[in-house]
Amino acid sequence: MNTHLSVRSASASDVDAIHALLELYASSGIVLKRSKEDIAFFIGNFIVAEFEGKICGCAALRDFGGDLLEVRSVVVDPARQGCGIGRAMVEFIIADVELNRPHFRLFTLTTTPAFFQRLGFEITEKESFPEKIWSDCSKCAKASHCDEVALVISR
Ligand SMILES: CC(C)(COP(=O)(O)OP(=O)(O)OC[C@H]1O[C@@H](n2cnc3c(N)ncnc32)[C@H](O)[C@@H]1OP(=O)(O)O)[C@@H](O)C(=O)NCCC(=O)NCCS
Repeated sequence: MNTHLSVRSASASDVDAIHALLELYASSGIVLKRSKEDIAFFIGNFIVAEFEGKICGCAALRDFGGDLLEVRSVVVDPARQGCGIGRAMVEFIIADVELNRPHFRLFTLTTTPAFFQRLGFEITEKESFPEKIWSDCSKCAKASHCDEVALVISR
């Protein structure tokens, strides 16, 4: 990892930066639109990447209960993409889950499956995660023409 790069749990003071990053991709439907209030409420789920003191990426972990978790809202500042920041954030989340759970299924729904495959995720069926479908997909405007691919890491 670049020595100027750090990945850490997010705090309340990161809400504006996380919101600004997600907004870059929410309008095109790449990530779910989140209000500042929603981000603030769920700030404990977020991590951020900092490069030379500036927030340049974020990601979130959602716990569905049981052994099921979702990595979501993975975004890197367009000016900093391709430098290992996305990898550093997702590996941070995987390491955290591995530390705390003997067994888990960590999934994602994404339009960028190749990125997650580079990190060890394997393509699977969306129907493997009915909790997600009932929670989010059933309310999504793209539900009937979803272009997202499901991937998972299981231990
Ligand atoms: C996808 C995204 C998070 C990747 O972050 P990044 O910092 O640019 O990626 P990294 O530099 O850490 O790349 C890690 C690996 O994934 C590969 N990779 C990155 N983006 C990729 C893409 N779009 N397609 C295929 N492979 C990709 C890299 O080549 C690299 O492989 P390697 O380490 O084995 O050489 C970032 O490009 C982004 O914010 N995209 C827009 C939002 C988005 O699509 N988010 C994901 C859906 S939630």
